[in-house]
Amino acid sequence: MLGSIRRFVAEPIAPVRRRLRARVDVFSRDLRMLKGSLLGKHPPPFRERHATATELTLQAAASPRVVRVSAVTRETADCVSLVIEDVCGAPFAFSAGQFFTVIVHIDGVAYRRAYSASSAANVTDKVTISVKRVHGGLVSNFIHERVVVGTEFAVLGPSGDFVVPPLESEASRTLVMIAGGSGITPIASIIRTELASGDRTKLILVYGSRSSTDIIFGRELSALACAYPDRFRVVHVLGEANERVTPHAGVLDREGLSAVLDRERIGLESIDRCYVCGPEPMMDGVRDSLVARGMPVGNITFERFLAPRAPSFDARADEPHTVTLRHKGRSLDLVAMPGQTLLEAALAAGEALPFSCTMGGCGACKVKRLAGSVAMAEPNCLTETERREGAVLACVACVLSDLEVEVG
Ligand SMILES: Cc1cc2nc3c(=O)[nH]c(=O)nc-3n(C[C@H](O)[C@H](O)[C@H](O)COP(=O)(O)OP(=O)(O)OC[C@H]3O[C@@H](n4cnc5c(N)ncnc54)[C@H](O)[C@@H]3O)c2cc1C
Ligand code: FES
Repeated sequence: MLGSIRRFVAEPIAPVRRRLRARVDVFSRDLRMLKGSLLGKHPPPFRERHATATELTLQAAASPRVVRVSAVTRETADCVSLVIEDVCGAPFAFSAGQFFTVIVHIDGVAYRRAYSASSAANVTDKVTISVKRVHGGLVSNFIHERVVVGTEFAVLGPSGDFVVPPLESEASRTLVMIAGGSGITPIASIIRTELASGDRTKLILVYGSRSSTDIIFGRELSALACAYPDRFRVVHVLGEANERVTPHAGVLDREGLSAVLDRERIGLESIDRCYVCGPEPMMDGVRDSLVARGMPVGNITFERFLAPRAPSFDARADEPHTVTLRHKGRSLDLVAMPGQTLLEAALAAGEALPFSCTMGGCGACKVKRLAGSVAMAEPNCLTETERREGAVLACVACVLSDLEVEVG
């Protein structure tokens, strides 16, 4: 098993990844240490069938598993869905809205990319990811052209906090989901999961696509709106006017969204939370529009499909520093050497912190700074609010003084 894991995480593309690869053995072996040191008890082996959801999530987030593609569905000309299943039959424990990191080898080099689950989270023996082709993109084109039923690759995860919190008993809520293009993938997972579980969440989806043929999951969304008329409503917005499909033409920028909300009489006063996922310019316009209409920014959750870029470090530590990891009242000290990221230092010490992209693009390695200072490579995916709240991305954090962080 470990042999095949090593094969799939071989040949990294940057020095940081080379060092991380050498430590994959350490993660696998030290999954026990993760709980031993941070949770206070020993974890079961990676393929243990009776692990709890939390244990599975912790293990899978830190260590790759090999999956096989069991179905390929072309959603649109540019989007393909892959159903993946663990080669050993182990279940997937994830929350709707989370993503997995796919590791594929192209010409002998391993590339990692994040793809959100688009399937419901309550189906645990398989996961669907849906990949939109990016012009000139390495991995998305590889998946479109080379991945077929039976293809095997490794995945990490689940990761991410683009998730809907559980409902308090007796409570009900209305959520607005705003998606653009492939940003529908995590939102589709949330919609499928929420509609299938209980009847106290109402959902309104505003979904922007270039044209009617670019609408991903179009038929299923219409079918869900018919099946749950009191709980789910979908409003399409198309770049090219198409009155047969929707009265809304244009883009989901600040003015575009406001016009749609007015015309559809969607008043934000009755909305509990908004979830937004789409191209970068859309996200900013949507945030401005929602905030201008009175939605507190803290009630809006964003998922950004940032492409990983080689991070650039401006700062470098001159001497080793002590790092204290805290988790649920327990603590552990380790040393960060000059030139090591916080993630590398933790992994070197045998602490299997979760990580995914290793390039500041996904948020999987987020910890909270309690004391001390770090410098992070930019750009990275942290929002201003997360930065203000002390969030640190361990994979791109250079430790500049003795440091104390809260994990998980
Ligand atoms: C948390 C997270 C979840 C994601 N979920 C999904 C998902 O469910 N479905 C999906 O299709 N993608 C998703 N992505 C994006 C995905 O990880 C890749 O970035 C994308 O597939 C492009 O990879 P690539 O190797 O083809 O392109 P690359 O070779 O990495 O990039 C090629 C060029 O395209 C640009 N580029 C890369 N990505 C994009 C983009 N999304 N939009 C515009 N330009 C881009 C790059 O800047 C570069 O110039 C997600 C990303 C994140 C961080
Ligand atoms: S592992 Fe993706 S941001 Fe750190």
